[in-house]
Amino acid sequence: MAVLPVLTWGDPRLKKNSEDVGDWTPELEQLVADMFETALDEEGVGLAAPQIGRNINLAVIDCSCGEDPAQRLVLINPEITREEGSQVGPEGCLSIPGIREVLERPQKVTIRNRAQDGSWHELTGEDLMARAFCHEIDHLRGRLFVEYFGPVKRQFLQKKYLKQARG
Ligand code: NI
Repeated sequence: MAVLPVLTWGDPRLKKNSEDVGDWTPELEQLVADMFETALDEEGVGLAAPQIGRNINLAVIDCSCGEDPAQRLVLINPEITREEGSQVGPEGCLSIPGIREVLERPQKVTIRNRAQDGSWHELTGEDLMARAFCHEIDHLRGRLFVEYFGPVKRQFLQKKYLKQARG
């Protein structure tokens, strides 16, 4: 397993739409293992393939942050099919290190997701899992969480982020 370099805010590759994953391959299985390793190394809950420079509809989520292997979830060509309620809480992104901001998301989210064996399943997540579904699927559509904020706040966050990135 390897920790992969993560693209950061401002990289145009993070803004691209991703393409569906085709047949599952050993190369993709290795990529998923590396993505879990990378998320864990950065203490993140999830990581989407565009963040490591692959514009494919693939993401990993581990709400236990490496504590419980059973909670590892691989999203393949996922689509949100239902959203319910709302939650307001802090959100961050491995591509925007040092920035955490409060963002409203649905409290409960249902997705349609493909498994590695090609079968399709409905998955429902609440609270942190619902937030992770929204956040990672946004990445696959070329969207970062800071884009939910207005231009003034976004500019403020960008300055703060760049200042931190320079050290
Ligand atoms: Ni992110």
